[in-house]
Amino acid sequence: MQIGIPLETLKGETRVAATPKTVRQLVTLGHSVVIEAGAGALSSYPDAEYAAAGATVSDRATTWSSPVVAKINAPDDDEIAQLPDGGILISLIAPGRSPELLAKLAERDLTVLAMDAVPRISRAQALDVLSSMANIAGYRAVIEAANAFGSLFTGQVTAAGKVPPATVFVSGAGVAGLAAIGTAKSLGAIVRATDLRAEVAEQVASMGGEFVAVKAEQQSSADGYAKEASADYADAAARMYAEQCREVDIIITTALIPGRPAPRLITAEMVATMKPGSVIVDMAASNGGNVEGSVADQLVVTDNGVKIIGYTDLAGRLPTQASQLYGTNVVNLFKLLTPGKDGEVVLDLDDVVLRGMTVTKDGDLLWPPPPVQVSAATPSASAPVPAEDPAERAAHQAAAARARTRNRIAWSIVAAALVVLAVTFSPASFVGAFTVFALAVVVGFYVVSGVSHSLHTPLMAQTNAISGIILVGALLQLGSTNIAVLVMSFIAATIASINIFGGFLVSYRMLGMFRKES
Ligand code: NAI
Repeated sequence: MQIGIPLETLKGETRVAATPKTVRQLVTLGHSVVIEAGAGALSSYPDAEYAAAGATVSDRATTWSSPVVAKINAPDDDEIAQLPDGGILISLIAPGRSPELLAKLAERDLTVLAMDAVPRISRAQALDVLSSMANIAGYRAVIEAANAFGSLFTGQVTAAGKVPPATVFVSGAGVAGLAAIGTAKSLGAIVRATDLRAEVAEQVASMGGEFVAVKAEQQSSADGYAKEASADYADAAARMYAEQCREVDIIITTALIPGRPAPRLITAEMVATMKPGSVIVDMAASNGGNVEGSVADQLVVTDNGVKIIGYTDLAGRLPTQASQLYGTNVVNLFKLLTPGKDGEVVLDLDDVVLRGMTVTKDGDLLWPPPPVQVSAATPSASAPVPAEDPAERAAHQAAAARARTRNRIAWSIVAAALVVLAVTFSPASFVGAFTVFALAVVVGFYVVSGVSHSLHTPLMAQTNAISGIILVGALLQLGSTNIAVLVMSFIAATIASINIFGGFLVSYRMLGMFRKES
């Protein structure tokens, strides 16, 4: 099918919905691509590169007459009028906030897929434009802060004296927040971060940040999204923000609860206590702002010399990369839409991802879609559902604990009896080897259980090395005439081989996730 990629006409827009690389990918799916002349100029993709990638560079009318049009910003009235009957439009729509646009789209015989309505489930991550743009925007927020900040981010010891590192505080550790933490850390700053959801503390630490907990009950979300903060939390959070404002040099706020105005976290009084020259980047400025005094698309300097940046086009300030990621999201959508890789578009509304994005189908309004069960932290399927009544739940838990203790005692008795039998009827050399084995199990258990999650990958590499040694030991025993030794060697060799070859298989699959597709 022919896909049209128009030049974006929204003021200040620098991105384009396809790059030469993504055009090649669309062509391998059996589609043809028509791109409006100059569409990629602001993102540094010249027309000649699109032509070399297999696209036809054409005028605006031809591009808009394509049966499928993929673009970035929501269409204006003229653009809606130019779409052919029965056509498919793929773009940002913000369907939850744009009832008028939805009504206009539904007046035409169109199928409209909203790139910003992709459900946040693992399978849909490859299409998730909001995440890919927030990731770039988080990075750019730090670059903007560094640009406006009058000092170095990294600490230095020079002949002229010591320079302390900047301290950066990030509020909201979602996609943009984590990108900001990683970027600020890599520039050498000391990074602190907070979030309403307690479970992100580990992610903050893995990006090199220190999690600042609010001294109140934090949320633990099952779906990866925050819910409105309680009054108790808000009071404690206000005290924490006041303290951070007095201490840090840079603040980046990314706090968002989907479907709500941005939570107000930092007041003008708190800003007034910040050091002159400090910088705040309020990423939520277009949605009401996390910071009092921030203005969308502007840099405001307060009376005490604090710069508050409210730019809303942070992703567009890195247009080459942003277009590449947006274009890749579009390609991933077309992989779903073109199951036969034959250029035939099939919109399967039984697929929750496609259903979630479909705003209108052949002129019928399908928004809002049925809710999708998202599962960032799925409860264990085998875990019994706790009873609602607290007394009943306590009794249930006590009974389960008693059963566990009984089981443990029974197994300990069986194990002790087996050990006594083995020691009584074995030669003295076995007792020595067995003692070493038992001690190794105890020491190994305490060493491994004390290793933090972030070090599990290197730990796996160590266990692979140990498995190699076990395998060699088992092979050396193969010549033994003792049947028990042979059986033990066989079992040891089998288990060690599973660990070694399984490790290779897992590594191979993980590397595959990063391999570029041609
Ligand atoms: P996200 O949903 O992944 O992350 C938001 C985080 O804020 C979540 O971790 C949530 O738990 C946390 N949060 C919510 N309420 C909070 C509170 N009261 N205190 C502390 N943390 C709280 O969202 P994402 O994709 O990271 O986007 C973040 C913000 O960046 C949004 O406001 C988005 O609109 C904005 N954005 C701005 C851009 C720009 O150019 N200025 C570009 C892209 C995104």
